[in-house]
Amino acid sequence: MRQFLMLCAGLMLALANVVQAADTSAGEKAYASCVACHGASGEGSVALGGPALAGQHEAYLVRQLTNFRAGLRGADASDVRGMQMRGMAAALADDTAVGDVAAYLAGLPQQVQSTETADADMRNGENQYNGACGACHGGQAQGNVGLSSPRLAGLDAGYLKLQYQNFAAGIRGAHPDDRLGQQMKMMATMLSSEKDLDDVVAFIVSQ
Ligand code: HEC
Ligand code: HEC
Repeated sequence: MRQFLMLCAGLMLALANVVQAADTSAGEKAYASCVACHGASGEGSVALGGPALAGQHEAYLVRQLTNFRAGLRGADASDVRGMQMRGMAAALADDTAVGDVAAYLAGLPQQVQSTETADADMRNGENQYNGACGACHGGQAQGNVGLSSPRLAGLDAGYLKLQYQNFAAGIRGAHPDDRLGQQMKMMATMLSSEKDLDDVVAFIVSQ
């Protein structure tokens, strides 16, 4: 019995180590090498194509960094920006460093990257968004952790459009091990024209 209890205690200790909280101050230090493209407050850089990261869901950030490192994202030769980011993700030391920087970023206050859009049909955008996107990304594009769907509100219009088009073209979400990317890739057939996409993007950035 005693041995059994000790075994249980040992197992619990091992589990506690596994779920140990990420070290956000180590994450903040690691983030120094990201500031140039993602901004000092994680607000992103439209000029360099770096999306806002502050306040994004932690699990999503971990998955993207892991996917970049493993070549599930940013491996297509025509994905210039993704390839750039892949190199940066590879420079993180290990999974612990990935977890730390993701936890740091997820804890920062959300930023609005840009609200500028060309004249768009907002009503069409809202209708299309509610019909094709809202079920996963949320009514206000705030994302849905349970469905692994990232927050889209606050991201730059150009970035949102590029990602949708990358999914549609099989530049992102095509790798057989990228299950959630594949899911989104299937959804990137839902909008029937570029005009609809522009309207949806305009609706998202207005949130
Ligand atoms: C040289 C510029 C550059 C640097 C430095 C950089 N990134 Fe990026 N990052 C990008 C670009 C560009 C993208 C968008 C890639 C795309 O279009 O698919 C990106 C995308 C990302 C994404 C995916 C976000 C999303 O919404 O899917 C994460 C997470 C990320 N970067 C984290 C980091 C972290 C952490 C660091 C530092 C270790 C870092 N980046 C350094 C340019 C950079
Ligand atoms: C079935 C659920 C689902 C639906 C519906 C859906 N998405 Fe997604 N979307 C996802 C998931 C999951 C991801 C994250 C994929 C990953 O982890 O790489 C994602 C990612 C994205 C991204 C990338 C965000 C970033 O930070 O890089 C964009 C942009 C996007 N979706 C736009 C849309 C639009 C526009 C629609 C409607 C036409 C839509 N999605 C419909 C599940 C969905």
